[in-house]
Amino acid sequence: VRKELLYEGKAKKIYSTELQSEVVVEYKDSLTAFNALKKGSFAGKGALNLRMTALLFEHLSKNGVPTHLIKQLGPTELLVKKVEIIPLEVVVRNVLAGSTAKKFGIEEGQVLAKPLVEFYFKNDALADPFLSDDQALMLGIVKETEIPQLKTMALKVNDVLAKVMNQAGMTLVDFKIEIGREGNRLLLADEISPDCCRLWDKKTGEKMDKDRFRRDLGNVAETYQEVCKRLSEVLK
Ligand code: TMP
Ligand code: ASP
Repeated sequence: VRKELLYEGKAKKIYSTELQSEVVVEYKDSLTAFNALKKGSFAGKGALNLRMTALLFEHLSKNGVPTHLIKQLGPTELLVKKVEIIPLEVVVRNVLAGSTAKKFGIEEGQVLAKPLVEFYFKNDALADPFLSDDQALMLGIVKETEIPQLKTMALKVNDVLAKVMNQAGMTLVDFKIEIGREGNRLLLADEISPDCCRLWDKKTGEKMDKDRFRRDLGNVAETYQEVCKRLSEVLK
């Protein structure tokens, strides 16, 4: 089905297909952090992230969140609907950690009374800055009517995902999603994996996500394998 390479990102490649409306996403083994200042990889990483994304997207779609996923083609390839990606990283936080904890000088781990939704402008040259709703409108990235739709979708993903992670023995601390337009419908796109979530083991508090790589905590590959194993058990 793969035709020509349309785009190569830090962790994925996108290929055209015979159909204008569909593309193939290939998951790579690379791992980057801090806007690719830090680079790494491990064998099997692409396949693990694909497996987790496919399981979670299928579950989300059964639970009322439409996604771009059509089907899995191979261990590192997904067939997806071609969408127009909105250049926003939509972040939801249940527990304060990472950049927002740092920004306000609050220690990581504070459980939030209500999930926090944040938008970042997806722009590597600018290092993905935080932006307000009005700034997103000013830049012409989103239509006024899409802002509440994006937030509703992000919170719905949070509800479904937090339950799954809880069943798998992990706290969903925060995550980032990307959303695309298919006509005037919004679809969940990109991926959901330990690359774009913070997951803390419920028993030990151990970090089970890309922070192991960002913060040099070791056992990166083993941790991704463990998260995949737990999700496979919960979502089989
Ligand atoms: P942050 O605390 O660094 O803002 O990250 C919040 C969440 O979003 C965390 O789960 C990691 C994820 N994220 C990405 O997936 N890609 C990114 O480029 C950034 C900055 C965060
Ligand atoms: N995803 C970003 C990068 O690849 C930032 C991060 O996750 O820390 O550089």
